[in-house]
Amino acid sequence: MNARPLAAAPSRPLPPTGEGRLLSGIRDDGRALSLNEHVATYGSARDGARAEAFVAELESSGLTGRGGAAFPIAAKFQAVAAGRRRPVVVVNGAESEPASGKDRALLRTLPHLVLDGAVLAAEALGAKQVIVAVSRGAAVEQAALAAAVAERARARVDGNVSLRVASVPRAFVAGEETALVHFLDGGPAKPTFTPPRPFERGVGGAPTLVQNVETLAHAALISRFGADWFREVGTESEPGSALLTLSGAVRRPGIHEAALGTRFETLVDEASGLTQPVSGFLVGGYFGTWVPADALLRLRLLDADLGLHGASLGTRAIVALPADACAVGEIARVTYYLAGESAGQCGPCVHGLAAIAEGMERVASGRADDRDRLARWVDVVRGRGACKHPDGVTRFVASGLDVFADEVGLHLRHGRCGARPSAVLPIPREVRNE
Ligand SMILES: Cc1cc2nc3c(=O)[nH]c(=O)nc-3n(C[C@H](O)[C@H](O)[C@H](O)COP(=O)(O)O)c2cc1C
Ligand code: SF4
Repeated sequence: MNARPLAAAPSRPLPPTGEGRLLSGIRDDGRALSLNEHVATYGSARDGARAEAFVAELESSGLTGRGGAAFPIAAKFQAVAAGRRRPVVVVNGAESEPASGKDRALLRTLPHLVLDGAVLAAEALGAKQVIVAVSRGAAVEQAALAAAVAERARARVDGNVSLRVASVPRAFVAGEETALVHFLDGGPAKPTFTPPRPFERGVGGAPTLVQNVETLAHAALISRFGADWFREVGTESEPGSALLTLSGAVRRPGIHEAALGTRFETLVDEASGLTQPVSGFLVGGYFGTWVPADALLRLRLLDADLGLHGASLGTRAIVALPADACAVGEIARVTYYLAGESAGQCGPCVHGLAAIAEGMERVASGRADDRDRLARWVDVVRGRGACKHPDGVTRFVASGLDVFADEVGLHLRHGRCGARPSAVLPIPREVRNE
């Protein structure tokens, strides 16, 4: 018999167990949790560690950024705190990566968890201003955030910290941190040359902590439940769980959460398996790396494993390319899109990416002499931009040429490979001025 405990005093909610730490809090109907629902699910942000204790917990947790570069969050806090002026906190919710939807999912469903993370960060750094940057096209997310900010203001939960939501252009490079700072200071959403990086000189010249939406949601949970709880899943060097956006030939595409260290095969099983044979996986979105399907399924969800194939988790957007889709055509199409997303301010990026996109198209249509010229352009452009845009694009193209070398050979000989022309990799419609 299950007896009810006599002293069932109302207590703080228990930490989420298992791997679905962020996603377990989401309502079945997908509506955003109100402030009361949020506190009932996770407890109040005030129950967690404050200021120095919070930063110490972050450091022991080993949490790294979930926006792509996997930089340790505690080290960034320390760099911002070393500045002489009062810092600013920017929540990076631009999610400009077309194959990713995890940050929008969090903003839409758990806005208070993200805002808790941002406010705790602000308090730990002595910042008074939090700016949440969200893409202009993300109307539902903006509405959820606006409602959450208004609720928090009414309930006066954020002390001296003020919250503001800013809409940023939908350009691919607009989510790069210096582009965000430039835009929030009244300029175009284009990257600026570094140094200074935002942690040295960011919004209004103040040291600025720019942190991805998901990173801050994890931080909010670490403040409540501690570093040891965070480390209960994952590995020693890559602890915790992460959100992934799965698309392509999986039966249950969308946002999934998994412990770091999970085998890719298990991850695919949890997405109800593949819909058909797959030739390769794109790991890490459009700045990511192609990995042959059989090789990827043997790896674990870890930068340490992916590094063996020159890949990393990056934005954790993963696309399974069906074997009957034309990989060369897919790569050509996305390269053309990415070349058009250059911010147009560094010569090698503007001219080099245009040449690479043209080269990919010529290879796809069987101009045999262009394979080597294309490889040369990839080498020339790599590392030559103010931001990492050219590096990301060249990684995408070079790994594709390598993994799909047989298909490239067929295109060069016959102008086609026999696979169906496809559009598995999404390309946003032209919306930059919306
Ligand atoms: C071209 C480009 C686009 C980027 N877009 C995003 C983005 O949309 N969202 C994001 O969180 N980070 C993006 N980043 C990474 C940010 O510059 C920055 O590293 C990140 O917001 C830091 O947060 P994190 O440490 O929590 O990951 C982009 C980087 C580059 C080079
Ligand atoms: S490298 Fe390209 S995207 Fe980055 S700042 Fe220069 S022109 Fe813009």
